[in-house]
Amino acid sequence: MTALVNRLAATAHAGVLLFGLLLLLVQAADALWDDAASGRERISLNKGWHFKRWESNPDNIVLKPWILPMANAFINDPATHFKTPVDRQPGFRISFAGDSYNDTDWEAVDLPHDWAIKGPFYTADTPVVGGGMGRLPIHGIAWYRRKLTIGPEDEDRRIYLDIDGAMSYSMVWINGNLAGGWPFGYNSFRVDLTPYLKLNSSDNQLAIRLDNPVQSSRWYPGGGLYRNVWLVKVDDTHIAQWGTLVTTEGATAEAATVQLSVQVENSGNSSREVMVATDIYELADVKAGMRGMKVASLGSKLVSVLPGQRQTVNTSAKVEKPKLWGPPPTQTPNLHVAVTRLILASSNKTIDTYETRFGIRTLNATGERGLLVNGERIYLQGVNQHHDLGALGAAFNHRAAERQLEVLRELGANAIRMSHNPPAPELLDLADEMGFLVMNEAFDCWQNQKNPNDFHLIFDDWSEADLRAMMRRDRNHPSIFAWSTGNEVGEQTDGANGGSIGRRLSAIVHEEDPSHRGSTASMNVAKPNTPFTEAFDIMSLNYQGEGIRDTPAYSGFTGTHTPPLYPDFHKAFPNSLLLSSETAAALSTRGTYFFPVTNESSAPQTDQIPAGGSDPKLRQVSAYELYSTPFGASPDKVFAKQDENQPYVAGEFVWTGWDYLGEPTPYYSARSSYFGIVDLCGFKKDRFHLYQARWRPDLKTAHILPHWNWPDRKGEVTPVHVFTAADEAELFLNGKTLGTLKKASNVTSYRFRWDDVRYEPGELRVVTFKDGKEWANDTVLTTGAPAALRLTADRSLIKADGHDLSFLTVEVVDKDGLVVPDASNAITFTVVTVVGGYDMGEIAATDNGDPYDMVAFPSKTRKAFSGKALAIMRAKPGAGGLVTVVATAEGLTRGIVALTAVP
Ligand SMILES: *[C@@H]1O[C@H](CO)[C@@H](O)[C@H](O)[C@H]1NC(C)=O
Ligand SMILES: *[C@@H]1O[C@H](CO)[C@@H](O)[C@H](O)[C@H]1NC(C)=O
Ligand SMILES: *[C@@H]1O[C@H](CO)[C@@H](O)[C@H](O)[C@H]1NC(C)=O
Ligand SMILES: *[C@@H]1O[C@H](CO)[C@@H](O)[C@H](O)[C@H]1NC(C)=O
Ligand SMILES: *[C@@H]1O[C@H](CO)[C@@H](O)[C@H](O)[C@H]1NC(C)=O
Ligand SMILES: *[C@@H]1O[C@H](CO)[C@@H](O)[C@H](O)[C@H]1NC(C)=O
Ligand SMILES: *[C@@H]1O[C@H](CO)[C@@H](O)[C@H](O)[C@H]1NC(C)=O
Ligand SMILES: *[C@@H]1O[C@H](CO)[C@@H](O)[C@H](O)[C@H]1NC(C)=O
Repeated sequence: MTALVNRLAATAHAGVLLFGLLLLLVQAADALWDDAASGRERISLNKGWHFKRWESNPDNIVLKPWILPMANAFINDPATHFKTPVDRQPGFRISFAGDSYNDTDWEAVDLPHDWAIKGPFYTADTPVVGGGMGRLPIHGIAWYRRKLTIGPEDEDRRIYLDIDGAMSYSMVWINGNLAGGWPFGYNSFRVDLTPYLKLNSSDNQLAIRLDNPVQSSRWYPGGGLYRNVWLVKVDDTHIAQWGTLVTTEGATAEAATVQLSVQVENSGNSSREVMVATDIYELADVKAGMRGMKVASLGSKLVSVLPGQRQTVNTSAKVEKPKLWGPPPTQTPNLHVAVTRLILASSNKTIDTYETRFGIRTLNATGERGLLVNGERIYLQGVNQHHDLGALGAAFNHRAAERQLEVLRELGANAIRMSHNPPAPELLDLADEMGFLVMNEAFDCWQNQKNPNDFHLIFDDWSEADLRAMMRRDRNHPSIFAWSTGNEVGEQTDGANGGSIGRRLSAIVHEEDPSHRGSTASMNVAKPNTPFTEAFDIMSLNYQGEGIRDTPAYSGFTGTHTPPLYPDFHKAFPNSLLLSSETAAALSTRGTYFFPVTNESSAPQTDQIPAGGSDPKLRQVSAYELYSTPFGASPDKVFAKQDENQPYVAGEFVWTGWDYLGEPTPYYSARSSYFGIVDLCGFKKDRFHLYQARWRPDLKTAHILPHWNWPDRKGEVTPVHVFTAADEAELFLNGKTLGTLKKASNVTSYRFRWDDVRYEPGELRVVTFKDGKEWANDTVLTTGAPAALRLTADRSLIKADGHDLSFLTVEVVDKDGLVVPDASNAITFTVVTVVGGYDMGEIAATDNGDPYDMVAFPSKTRKAFSGKALAIMRAKPGAGGLVTVVATAEGLTRGIVALTAVP
């Protein structure tokens, strides 16, 4: 053990040195970056909250009239503004909101915080929260309380609370005064605390009430202050919330005209004369936020702003030879930053500095050739993503979100649909940085409900404000190419009403985005030439493009039966971008296979029809990747329909990229989905290789399925399928050829299948060829019994900041190191601090990707599923040091991994 410790210590030392150097460089750059006279402070308020939740309502308050006027800043027609109640404050006191309430026995929490994710899962037949919402305790009323210190220097400043997302119906009190709130749990919002603050006091009491109803969502929403919360301090005269708008129309590699619109707000009592001056820089190192070369100065403009007024200042400048933003691999996601300063005319003092990140690029949504980015056609290889981060729940974590995108990038995805709500702002930053195209989406329903307590209850009051708020926050992101106002809303078939709401929301999109990114709403039943369809710029089809229940295997099911509708939509809207916002809805659990395997290229699967495709007792669906919901299709069928309708079909968004919490079709007794190309842990299902072969055709890979441990199937038919971009493949079983297959020259074949293979243990090997040349090969072996655990970390150096994560994969292996594909050993994870005197990290959560595993996520013991499990290690904030994680299982050699946490 001593030798091991020494070796680990040596590694850690080198790591610390290297990382320390990097930090130094970053700090040096920051110093340059920081404008000494910025005038603006943005302070994280994530630490030090007291929290309490009640399953039933402890205070029974209705304060809607006081919250509604918050929407007015996002409602354009003053005539329809909500009236502020005559009594500025509700006429009764709520003890939890006041400063005299003693909350010392409440739970101490840091944000982002999701109160429901720790479970336990509801497993009863009639749970309070069912499978649809993830069987986790998302419901109830909760209060978050915290003190704020406001110094004497904050006199004459405006002090705002910026909440990136709170689930849901939030109301904010400061020193016993109701200061604002926002009901929709996915939007970001700002509350002005200024009128109610005690200056020069550490005793300002902030209190936030949330209310999360049951039956309010079709998936897991999480609960709580689940995104970042900020305190923003500015001069009375400052750039307004989301107060800049950049457009870069007409950009080429030679030159671009950047137009900037700046909204200056004067919340003071006297008129202010300010200069608005902006410089544009390249972002040299996006990760470090390092400014690069200055590429333009927008002429400064003098503006006079009356007290209580806002004034908009427009400027523009030409950027020569701009570094354009575009999606890899053919383009580079270069970013720019506009640094805007407000300079007081009377003293030349800078009173505000505001940074706007943006990208210079052109988008052209065409009806004939799909989407052009900087003139190049980009076929949308997209996925849908829900907002949860698997075992970490809804609580936003930058590293977990980044890892989701890294896995999608490896897959070959270049686009993401934010299904079905505004995402965390940092996720859009990541999409900009990594070069994903984004369809941003506002709502899952309008007036017609999908669940009794969902957004339909507040749609009429809040839809304008919520849509405008989302767009003002997000419109400078170059990644966004489309604005979706709804997903499969009931109004699709609601005749004139559907058309009228659709046109109203479309008009808002056009007003808020002068760069003409189009409006859309996803259509799973609307047909061409309905009032609904005609309301939108972009035709986004869910499943209708490839056809719904239109093949013999699906014909017996009730519900919509629709032939492939790409041609009909294209004919009706020849000039509109046409894409599939949802495709496939294919089902599988990683590493599980059932027999007999269907001969079809796509077959339905429900909890009633297990034949071959699933096991209702285990709640698992076969990973032969041929099965789908009755309204869906296998990937193969979607590919064929996309290919038949090129080049006018712009691409697809697969339902879904990652598995997610809730909506566990076809088994609602489970807790997470079966739709993902990767499972809830981020482990690849076989489907990953099917999409990768199509989306990264130059990658030399071949992938065999199933695994080859079938002791009970000797001599039985056990089909073997291979996913590869090659066009020819030869399969060998124990050295004997099982024949060479060629991909048909027609477009209907996206896999090689040897459906008559009879199982015998040993070695399966495939050798593939493309254009007659050897391409790639793959081997699958029958393994021995479990012998050891192999533990590996995605990153062994992490920041000791309380947020950074290392994702640890444990594999159950045989004596030769082969992963045992059906192993389900119970594995326990332990954190051992080797160097340094304090507790350096914790296992934040564990998972295995099995949608029916009902062991709560924080458990340190997790059964392997199909040979694998995941532990998520979080370093605690502090001095850092070396930490090892050990994985143990009865009868197996333990696995060990060393990590370094640096401050
Ligand atoms: C608040 O309650 C705790 C126990 O819950 C008690 O120890 C403390 O003295 C109380 N504080 C005040 C100011 O009453
Ligand atoms: C702030 O409060 C401290 C302690 O109460 C007091 O000594 C100081 O004079 C105050 N400062 C201002 C500017 O009011
Ligand atoms: C601004 O006006 C308000 C109300 O008229 C008043 O309460 C406040 O003291 C004034 N603030 C300043 C800095 O003059
Ligand atoms: C300033 O720019 C905004 C956004 O492009 C536009 O809506 C507005 O009309 C412009 N104002 C003026 C005075 O040009
Ligand atoms: C502000 O700066 C301008 C240009 O540098 C200069 O002409 C002017 O005198 C300055 N005003 C004050 C009050 O310092
Ligand atoms: C967009 O593309 C279409 C079709 O290729 C072309 O006719 C049109 O001129 C383009 N528009 C712009 C603004 O580039
Ligand atoms: C494509 O090729 C396969 C295999 O050769 C054949 O069975 C199928 O009928 C063909 N499909 C079309 C649409 O030509
Ligand atoms: C399989 O691929 C590897 C890596 O490309 C190559 O080195 C090897 O020769 C191939 N084996 C066979 C049997 O084709």
